[in-house]
Amino acid sequence: MTKPNEPATPSTIWGGRFASGPAAVMQEINASIGFDKRLYRQDIAGSKAHCAMLAASGIITEADANAITSGLDAVLAEIEAGTFPFRVALEDIHMNVEARLKELIGEPAGRLHTARSRNDQVATDFRLWVRDALDSADLGLAALQRALVGQAEAHAGTVMPGFTHLQTAQPVTFGHHMLAYVEMFGRDRSRLKDARARMNECPLGAAALAGTSFPIDRFATAEALGFAAPTRNSLDSVSDRDFALEAMSALAIAGVHLSRIAEELVIWTSAPFAFVRLPDSFSTGSSIMPQKRNPDAAELCRAKAGRLISDLNALLIVMKGLPLAYSKDMQDDKEPTFEAFDTFALCIAAMTGMISELTVDAARCKAAAGQAFSTATDLADWLVRVLGMPFREAHHVTGAVVKAAETRGCDLVDLPLAEMQAIEPRITDAVYAVLTVESSAASRVSYGGTAPDNVRRQCAEARTRFGL
Ligand code: ARG
Repeated sequence: MTKPNEPATPSTIWGGRFASGPAAVMQEINASIGFDKRLYRQDIAGSKAHCAMLAASGIITEADANAITSGLDAVLAEIEAGTFPFRVALEDIHMNVEARLKELIGEPAGRLHTARSRNDQVATDFRLWVRDALDSADLGLAALQRALVGQAEAHAGTVMPGFTHLQTAQPVTFGHHMLAYVEMFGRDRSRLKDARARMNECPLGAAALAGTSFPIDRFATAEALGFAAPTRNSLDSVSDRDFALEAMSALAIAGVHLSRIAEELVIWTSAPFAFVRLPDSFSTGSSIMPQKRNPDAAELCRAKAGRLISDLNALLIVMKGLPLAYSKDMQDDKEPTFEAFDTFALCIAAMTGMISELTVDAARCKAAAGQAFSTATDLADWLVRVLGMPFREAHHVTGAVVKAAETRGCDLVDLPLAEMQAIEPRITDAVYAVLTVESSAASRVSYGGTAPDNVRRQCAEARTRFGL
C-alpha cells in the first residue's frame, strides 16, 4: 500500500511528462470514480456514438471502430455483471473504461479519444444522466399526482376545516385540499420539462475547450444520443453546469411542496386532529411508549427538503466565479446532483405510498370543520344576498352574532333565531340553511372553489391535463 504523500508511478493515461505519480492524498482528492461510476452507461453510450461518428467521418477505420464498439459492449457487460475492475488510480469513469478497453482490445482502444477530451466527455455523460433523472422524477411526480387525485375523488364531498394562520377559517373539502397539491406538483413537472428542453443540446465535440481540427460531425453524435442539436459554443459546452442547477432548483421547489404536505400529514395524524390515519406500513412505533404511531416518513420528507435546497446551494457555490472554461471544481457537480435526485426519488415514493394508503376520518373532519364559527362568512354573505346589506355592514352584524354565540357557548347553527333577531331583526330562519358546513362548502361553486361538484369536475380535468 502506498503511504500518504509517497509518490506512485505516473498515470498511464496522462503521465507522459511526469517523472513520478501522485501522492496518495493527491490521488484521493483527485479521484471521482467512487461516485462517477454511476455514469458508466452514459459514458459508454457517448463513446459508442463518438466512435461511430469517427468512422463515418473517415477519422478512424471501420475495423478499429468495430473493435472499439464490441470492446465497449464487453466493458458494459462486465460493469453490469459486477466483475469490472474499478481502479482509483485511474481517477474517473472515463479513464477506467478506456483503460479496460485497452486491456480487452489492445491498440485500437487508443484511437477512441481522438477529437475528444474528458471535458466534453463528462459534460455529455452528465447531461445524459440528468436528462434520464429528470424523466424519472417526472414519472414519480405523476404517480404522486395520481394518488392525490384518487383521494380527491374519494373525498370530493368530505368536509374539513380550511385554515389560514392554522386557525379554522372556512369549511373546505378534503378533495379540494388534495387538488391544491396536484396543481403544485403539476407546476413542478412543467419546470422539469422546461429544464429538460433547455438542456437537450450535445456538448460532445467541444473537445478540451476550443473544438477540434478533426473533421468531426457533431450533428451526428447529437442525434445518435437523442439530443435536439449540438451546443453552439465550445467554451460554454465544457463550462456549463446550469442544466444541473436548473434541474436541482426545480427539485428544491418541489421539495418545498413535499415538505408542506408532509407537515400537514404530521399535523393531521396527531391525536388532537386525527383527521387522517396512516396504515401500519407507513407508521413507526416508539421504543418506550407502546401506544405511539409516529409519521416518520412524513417527518423525513419534511426534513429532506433541506437536503434538496442545500444540494442546489452547494453547486451554485461551486460554480460561482469560476473562470471559463473547465476547472476541476466542476467535478464536484456530481455528488450534490446525485444526492438531490436520489433523495427526491425516495421522498416522492414515500409520499406516494402515504397518500395512496391513508384513510380519512370524515366524521372528525366534519366536526372540526364546524368549530370556531367557520360559517360566519356564509352568514355575512346571506345578509348581503338576501337583505341587500353592504358587505362591510354584514361583516359587522355577523361579528355581533358570533359574539352572541360565543357568549352562549354554542355554534352559529345552534344559536336561537331570537338572539340573531335581537342583533338584526330582518334575519329569518332561512339563514340556518347556509350555516351548516356542508352547505357552506357546497355553495362555493366559483371557478376553482371548494364545492364537491367542482372538485369532481376538477379531478376529471386533472386526470386529462396531467395524463394521469
Ligand atoms: N472527472 C472529471 C470531472 O468529473 C473529468 C474531467 C476531467 N478533466 C480534466 N481536464 N482534468 O470533471
